[in-house]
Amino acid sequence: MSMPETFRALFLEEGGERPVPKIGEVPRSVLPEGDVLIRVSHSTINYKDAMMVKGVGYRIKDFPFVPGIDLAGTVEESDSPAFRPGDQVVLNGYGAGEQFAGGYAAFARAKAEWLVPVPDGWTARDTMAVGTAGMTAMLSILELEKGGIAPDAGTILVTGASGGLGSMAIAMLAALGYRVEASTGRLEEEAYLTSLGAAGVIPRAELEGGAERPLMARRWAGCIDAVGGTTLSTVISSLDERGVIASCGLAGGNTFTASLIPFFLRGVRLIGIEGGHGPIAERRTAWNRIPQALSRERLERITTDAVLGDLPALADEVLAGRVRGRVAIDVTA
Ligand SMILES: NC(=O)c1ccc[n+]([C@@H]2O[C@H](COP(=O)([O-])OP(=O)(O)OC[C@H]3O[C@@H](n4cnc5c(N)ncnc54)[C@H](OP(=O)(O)O)[C@@H]3O)[C@@H](O)[C@H]2O)c1
Repeated sequence: MSMPETFRALFLEEGGERPVPKIGEVPRSVLPEGDVLIRVSHSTINYKDAMMVKGVGYRIKDFPFVPGIDLAGTVEESDSPAFRPGDQVVLNGYGAGEQFAGGYAAFARAKAEWLVPVPDGWTARDTMAVGTAGMTAMLSILELEKGGIAPDAGTILVTGASGGLGSMAIAMLAALGYRVEASTGRLEEEAYLTSLGAAGVIPRAELEGGAERPLMARRWAGCIDAVGGTTLSTVISSLDERGVIASCGLAGGNTFTASLIPFFLRGVRLIGIEGGHGPIAERRTAWNRIPQALSRERLERITTDAVLGDLPALADEVLAGRVRGRVAIDVTA
């Protein structure tokens, strides 16, 4: 076996009130069962990862624990005919970094049925610049398409626009020919959002007051909503006939109240997007579409690069809503 007895990781150690992140060696016994061993080169930081790194919102039973819900790298060993040593693969979720050791380590083990090949012409780092957030943005776009919302249907609203999911959604929607409006609490990011393809920028405060009436002026044909809460209530009442909302995030709240009138009088459709554990066929479709919808220039504009040791400080920034776009983490550095 080419895996050493121990390898480098950012792991959580049992602490007083909360687990504590450390960088050091972990034993190979931290890895779960699985038929593919991956030499990890890159991971990323999602909101869930930030919570895990800071020991917030998770109960961890076995220490040391390796967070990181996304990872990419090279197959080292495979008992599955689907992958061979040397193949470049991506893993998004399925419990990695939450229920078992994830991407913040030099090695990971996973089931072959969870893995997606790195798209042709892309690197492992590029896929982590996309990460679960970008894949979820594409899953949302696929739902708009399934709902019949083509680029000529009207404007699409993206909420939580400066975040990872929002930035990816704007860039890909615009490249696919949609007119996009971006809602943000960071108006200083207007030039960034416009550079990704947003045709208009809406202050967060304009939407977060909730719906004033069950039916408000029709503003959007569809929405990719990373915010939820009262913002989602406003959006439901402001969609055009047969509008589709892909509900994928809860940055502004995990509950909402809404009138049913927009659903019955306008045929509004609210679709939940599951980026964490969804069917692999859906994810392969999303990963096939992403390179067509995301130019290298836009990917680079969205992405910042960082290393394992940056994660604790980055986690604070993510939880404070101060990180713009996406961060790719070089796990080898
Ligand atoms: N469904 C899934 O499977 C799935 C997958 C990935 C992510 N998610 C969820 O989607 C959301 C966005 O993920 P992300 O990776 O893009 O996170 P992120 O990079 O942290 O971005 C979240 C964005 O939401 C906005 N925001 C933050 N706090 C807010 C508040 N109190 N009220 C309103 N807006 C607020 C901010 O955008 P502005 O500064 O532009 O306002 C922030 O940049 C998270 O809730 C995440 O858990 C779900």
